Amino acid sequence: MHTAADTPAQTPVIALFAASARRDALSKRLALACVAPLQAAGAQVMHLDLNDHPLPLYHGDEEAAALAQGSLPAPVVALQQLFAQAHGFLIVTPEYNGSIPPLLKNTLDWCSRANPADPARSGVALYANKPAALMATSPGPLGGMRALFHARDVLGYLNMLVLPQQLAVGRANEAFAEGKLIDERQQKTVTAICQALVSTTRQLGSTP
Ligand SMILES: Cc1cc2nc3c(=O)[nH]c(=O)nc-3n(C[C@H](O)[C@H](O)[C@H](O)COP(=O)(O)O)c2cc1C
Repeated sequence: MHTAADTPAQTPVIALFAASARRDALSKRLALACVAPLQAAGAQVMHLDLNDHPLPLYHGDEEAAALAQGSLPAPVVALQQLFAQAHGFLIVTPEYNGSIPPLLKNTLDWCSRANPADPARSGVALYANKPAALMATSPGPLGGMRALFHARDVLGYLNMLVLPQQLAVGRANEAFAEGKLIDERQQKTVTAICQALVSTTRQLGSTP
């Protein structure tokens, strides 16, 4: 991972993840197609699979019980420590009933909780003033467009600086070959969004 000498102006660390734990998730295919463009734009990519970070469904009693033992639940702390290292985020979301999947909200909510055992690497400061880019996928024609707007609201509430550029890939089950989007125009949009995210992260100099 990045060293203390790294700054966003040199090598921004971008946390990249799909908001689906499903092994063959369409959103994971689009996240994968973002790795090379992010690297080409000069980022160090922290490519996360939320299947490797199974968090319980947020429950206030469970949080209180964990805090009574001194810390948030271990899987939450592990993910918070990763988010803390990120200068920016790229999130690819599916659409569930016109909105974001509970996995995305649950992940963002748990990590937004302060951990008295590690205040510097927990809570809303993990998100505040960090740039974020959003993309969506769906097997349907609209590509999860409605989830993008809801995700934008949630990230904005967390004081993230959400890029105006976004992409919704419809008919996503037919959209990829060899880890890339088949449609050149869409792949160019991916590249443009990745470049904008890295350049914004550098300009803002947001520090984890
Ligand atoms: C509860 C639920 C609600 C869904 N609602 C929508 C929807 O509103 N719009 C849409 O395009 N697809 C919807 N879908 C279909 C998903 O886009 C599809 O299952 C997709 O493959 C899930 O994303 P993933 O492949 O990244 O796991 C829904 C799926 C589920 C399970």
